[in-house]
Amino acid sequence: MTLLELEGLTASYGPVQVLEGVSLSVPDNGAVGILGANGAGKTTTLRAISGTVRAGGRIVFDGKDIRGLRPDQVAALGIAHVPEGRGTLGDLSVRDNLRVGAYLRRDRKGIAADIDFCLELFPNLQDRITSNASALSGGEQQMLAVARAIMSKPRLLLLDEASLGLAPSTAKNVYDAIRHLRLTLGIAMVVVEQNANLAFTLVDSATVLETGRSVLTGTSAELKGMDEIRRAYLGG
Ligand SMILES: Nc1ncnc2c1ncn2[C@@H]1O[C@H](COP(=O)(O)OP(=O)(O)OP(=O)(O)O)[C@@H](O)[C@H]1O
Ligand SMILES: [Mg+2]
Repeated sequence: MTLLELEGLTASYGPVQVLEGVSLSVPDNGAVGILGANGAGKTTTLRAISGTVRAGGRIVFDGKDIRGLRPDQVAALGIAHVPEGRGTLGDLSVRDNLRVGAYLRRDRKGIAADIDFCLELFPNLQDRITSNASALSGGEQQMLAVARAIMSKPRLLLLDEASLGLAPSTAKNVYDAIRHLRLTLGIAMVVVEQNANLAFTLVDSATVLETGRSVLTGTSAELKGMDEIRRAYLGG
């Protein structure tokens, strides 16, 4: 079953059209990457899905066209967005950031259990549970951003540059944890990642965007085997 389908997605900022036809298909429990140069439209694609920029074309989630819904309505359907730059709430503690992630839920026991799950997944956060998010390192803030998204019990996670600014070993830890989430909770994912080597450790397939358009889509194995992908995204 297909969980998310984008067809001919378009989007503009004011008069400037930046998406001109993005197509993408995420199966239930699947993880799909979006590759592309700076400015290609990767972040805008995630914003269109989460309802934070207006879009044209079709955005079908779980069989329903969700284009035009408000961000809170999209979130309520089970789509969680971990934005570029993380978006954690600096003045709140780690624990309160996790509680904010669960703001649509009423099951207090379930929330407490999921906070424990997140702290097991990211032990660094356990040690900083009462610290303000602003006092965390970049890697810890990224872990918190992912954990906060998980607290909403999403069916689909939108991840934007989860490795940005992190040391290679920290980036690997974050991706190991995300892969674990995928395997244990079966959460589907759309993964935007500059570091394609890292992205390919997580995703089954990917689409390549050029100036707001999907120009190539394939399985991870197919893409990794292509010379132009290796040259442009894999450092060789
Ligand atoms: N808020 C905005 N207002 C106007 N133009 C924007 C805005 N955000 C992005 N753009 C423009 O839209 C285009 C696509 O930007 P987007 O952020 O989606 O690219 P990206 O693929 O995520 O790039 P990067 O790899 O640098 O994060 C770019 O030309 C960018 O300058
Ligand atoms: Mg971006």
